[in-house]
Amino acid sequence: MSNQPAKMWSGRFREPLDRTFEQWQRSFPFDWRLLPQEIAASAAHARMIAAAGVLTAGELETMLHGLSIVGSQAEAWSHRISVSSPEPEYSASTAQIGAALVASSPQAEDIHHFVELQLLQQIGPLALKLHTGRSRNEQIATDLRLFVRESIDATLRGLDQWMDALLSVAESAGEAVMPSYTHLQRAEPVLVAHWLLAYVSMVERDRSRLVDARRRMNLCPLGSGAVAGATLALDRSIAAAALGFDAPTPNSMDATSDRDFAIEFTQALSILGLHISRFAEELTLYSSTEFGFLDLPERFSTGSSAMPQKKNPDLTELIRGKCARLAGAVTTLTTLVKGLPLAYNKDLQEGQEPVFDAADTISGILSVLPAFTSGLRFRLEKMSLAAQSGYLNAMAAATYLTYKGVPFRKAHEIIGNAVRFALDCGVELNALSLQQLQQFSPASEPVFGPDFADAISLQATIDCHNVLGGTATHRVRQALAAARLRWAERAREPHIPDPEAAHG
Ligand code: ARG
Repeated sequence: MSNQPAKMWSGRFREPLDRTFEQWQRSFPFDWRLLPQEIAASAAHARMIAAAGVLTAGELETMLHGLSIVGSQAEAWSHRISVSSPEPEYSASTAQIGAALVASSPQAEDIHHFVELQLLQQIGPLALKLHTGRSRNEQIATDLRLFVRESIDATLRGLDQWMDALLSVAESAGEAVMPSYTHLQRAEPVLVAHWLLAYVSMVERDRSRLVDARRRMNLCPLGSGAVAGATLALDRSIAAAALGFDAPTPNSMDATSDRDFAIEFTQALSILGLHISRFAEELTLYSSTEFGFLDLPERFSTGSSAMPQKKNPDLTELIRGKCARLAGAVTTLTTLVKGLPLAYNKDLQEGQEPVFDAADTISGILSVLPAFTSGLRFRLEKMSLAAQSGYLNAMAAATYLTYKGVPFRKAHEIIGNAVRFALDCGVELNALSLQQLQQFSPASEPVFGPDFADAISLQATIDCHNVLGGTATHRVRQALAAARLRWAERAREPHIPDPEAAHG
């Protein structure tokens, strides 16, 4: 190695660092994950300083080549681990690759230092020119943005798959019905597809939040320097274009200390997590014997080591649990940034791990959720029976009376009395004779007619909700077709570039 000092900043120091402090303050043990982003951002910076005359064309070429060799390190490391594994399909986990990479360079303070050290080994002292006109403050801001942008794209791809699964299950449910609940008490019958479309609506909002955050964060901090802007007259649009950003960031102090993009990303994920967790909770409930609405796919369930009869909903429970981490990430990030004076502060280093954890958590969830959803087998018969007991047609019955001119408040009371009577007889409303019903009519006129039975049939109870967004059969058919169309057309949205092009 050349005579480069072991530290990036040792010139003004006379005392060596406390060994424990030195290890404790390093970020390489976790920011090694930013290796591909650091390589891409360094290459973009090299192009920018070459354009400013700091590197010759030949030097730029050598530097870019050196960086790409360093960049292939991660692959080489993962390969080394996977070939030494006894199982052929086994591929190294992220943590294993990281541990090996970190152990390989104990002196690297962070990913930026690591790449410089590696580049020095590859191309010699020319590597020392790379840091001309830049600061780690803008580097980390850039690397993390690139990481978040890629994670957003990966999440959107995962959501597309989950949405596809939800739509397919809804499509194959046809006109099957189930009870809907308020206060977890049976309320009114709905189509199973209508219930599933509720989650499609949530996922569509989650998508749009991620897309929106992506658009807002797609600006390039490179050229912002340590705080006041680069000390060279750089053409910042070169780096921005090379990294697929829409433009350079407008203010160097903001750019080096802003973590809104990470906060927005984790916020969007935490809301998505709420939705996924609610879905997981409903399936957990519905798979219980008490509901009996669905058979959990065996390949996604586990048994009990103690109770031989058990089939446990571990997947949905674990999803519920994992979603807590997403909320945790937002809390860490917002608490971290609150009260920080401008601009960069070392506290910001603590903002990386929540981002990695949130990205890993959502990617893990979305790696199982679509297949699990497709594998759900509903007991439609049982759901339909449940929708036909418990007076779920009482609202439809009251509505029938309003068509006969009875004010709704009055109709509500009449049907309430009829329900009370039916409860005492232990039957449903449709088992009451006209004569029995008529005793609840206003004294002046009998309001129940022979058409009452039809008005409170299961079909009528569904179809009376004939409003946009309601569960009437043809409304749901239209809503489902429209959602499928939006799903099919999502690829035409302009914001998601080809993932291959992400690093420019
Ligand atoms: N590892 C640091 C971080 O993640 C990089 C920036 C360090 N900048 C500094 N001035 N010490 O925040």
